[in-house]
Amino acid sequence: MSSQPLIFVTRALPPDVNTRLLRDYRAKLNPDDGTYSAEEILEGAEDCDAILCTPTEKLTAELIERLPEGVRMIATFSVGHEHIDLPAAERRGMRVSNTPDVLNDATADIAMLCLLGAARRAHEGQTMLREGRWVGWATTQLTGVHVTGKRLGIFGMGRIGQAMARRAKGFEMTVYYCNRRRLPLEQEQGAIYCESAEEMLPLCDFLSLNAPASDETYHWLNAERIAALPDGAVVVNTARGTLVDDDALIAALNGGKLAAAGLDVFEGEPKIDPRYRGLENAFLLPHMGSATVETRNAMGFKCLDNLDAFFAGRALPDGLV
Ligand code: DGY
Repeated sequence: MSSQPLIFVTRALPPDVNTRLLRDYRAKLNPDDGTYSAEEILEGAEDCDAILCTPTEKLTAELIERLPEGVRMIATFSVGHEHIDLPAAERRGMRVSNTPDVLNDATADIAMLCLLGAARRAHEGQTMLREGRWVGWATTQLTGVHVTGKRLGIFGMGRIGQAMARRAKGFEMTVYYCNRRRLPLEQEQGAIYCESAEEMLPLCDFLSLNAPASDETYHWLNAERIAALPDGAVVVNTARGTLVDDDALIAALNGGKLAAAGLDVFEGEPKIDPRYRGLENAFLLPHMGSATVETRNAMGFKCLDNLDAFFAGRALPDGLV
């Protein structure tokens, strides 16, 4: 019998990550890349020593309690870990790791793309062109919101929020941030700390959501907070869809309170609120913040680094519990 641990891998992996995985481990793979149900996860985890999962699998307390005895570690291919019930994993004596840092730049790049795409009406321009409706240049055609020199508020100044602030400086923006705590000066990236959302929101020509999903951030951007933004503000969300109350955001986009929104994440994705599809002033992407070849490889290698550490009895580089 092989001494290599057996890993249950819930989704297809980038080729280079797969190659390293199969060099060092035995693995149950998911070549079709479908999303498994809870029962399929329980079945797949049978006889396995660890699970390599992604945010598309909900590892609830109930599911974790029913996992086979032999599963001792969960490595998620993501920085976000709201899909895993950490206290339940801890109760079972399991270790859990995630993939921080390596996706900061790619995700901040997409946040900037969402900001620019929304402000400069990229979706409308693309559609006009592709549908053959462009009849030529005109002085008032697709005029959008000017970006350079404006004010950006960042809700959640973690590593991705800080990377967003650095990009915004390239656009000569004045950056404010609101966070659970003030950062040390060297991490602030020149951004100005606001004690509360109430203080920051009226200053935001642009608002970027970069906080993790949690009970505290659930529907954080609600009707009241949208009302506190200046008229014509632009909202960007590359964090998690649950941060936004869709009814409130859609009403503000329809009613003209907000000029536009750039969204890469959605509550209940991939089943997004269908009203977004009809909104011309919404620039929409399908959760592609970390989707570069380099970043997805780095995320996969981080999962393997953590599994390697676990099976060698070393401290996890990115242990959550
Ligand atoms: C993460 O890592 O949490 C991202 O959302 C996946 O791109």
